[in-house]
Amino acid sequence: MRIIITADLHYDVARSKGPTEAIAEEICRKGGDVLLIAGDCVSTDLAMLDRMVGLFEGFRGAKLLVAGNHELWTCGGADSLHRYEVELKEACERNGVHYLDDAPFRAGDVAFVGSVGWYDYSFRPSRLSIPLRFYKSKIAPGAAGQFNHHRHLLEQFDDISAAGRDVTTRWMDGVRVKLPMDDIAFTHRLVDKLRGHLDEVHDSAQHVVAAIHHLPFHELVPRSLIPNWEFANAFMGSELFGEALLDYPKVRHAYCGHCHQLKRCRRRELECISVGSTYREKRYEVLDV
Ligand SMILES: [Fe+2]
Ligand SMILES: [Fe+2]
Repeated sequence: MRIIITADLHYDVARSKGPTEAIAEEICRKGGDVLLIAGDCVSTDLAMLDRMVGLFEGFRGAKLLVAGNHELWTCGGADSLHRYEVELKEACERNGVHYLDDAPFRAGDVAFVGSVGWYDYSFRPSRLSIPLRFYKSKIAPGAAGQFNHHRHLLEQFDDISAAGRDVTTRWMDGVRVKLPMDDIAFTHRLVDKLRGHLDEVHDSAQHVVAAIHHLPFHELVPRSLIPNWEFANAFMGSELFGEALLDYPKVRHAYCGHCHQLKRCRRRELECISVGSTYREKRYEVLDV
């Protein structure tokens, strides 16, 4: 069975449009049994998902998809949980795509599980000594003063390091993602759901392939000494997803996206690859099982 894995196509972003169309054409021409798309296809406008999936019309195998954080972006404060659990599922169904966040998929003796993954700030850099309240608000100390609703974060100032005061990152999930729970609760909810899906398929499958949009292992987190980039590492993922995968030894291949860097790591028998598409250059991986 040949599995093609890609991620971060960002078809709604102008500079990603041409590269996405080119890689879709290549993937359709080469073919495969399963196409696995590991999140961040589009963002607020789900009609774009129909158009993106249409690019893969010539792919004859099954098409599977997990959500990315960008698919949870909404306008006007609409509920991202509803988007995640209902609207994306409907969008996949009308396009003939299996939505792995909703249910596992079976193809012969290979099972597929997936999740958007999420973050609990555990990948935040200790080096910057920025208090947790800034990560929870998804804005760094150097930018918080520019927004009335974030200014209270600076009321206590002496616990912010000198280096931290210069960091100006905003993580835009803080503006675009509206969940009825905090990020840590959402992370746990998703990990529990992933474990449920693994329980469903693990006994009857010979191989389990996983797709998690966010990073499940710290080795995959981009290494940068630029403080504005380091701040963003808090939102890269959580090892809770990796721990869940490692509890199921038939999971020997896992794929993620989100960080836009190609990286690999191995934990015991599990190889995990972040696919590494950027906005301008798209990539895919091939797995034969
Ligand atoms: Fe992305
Ligand atoms: Fe992402």
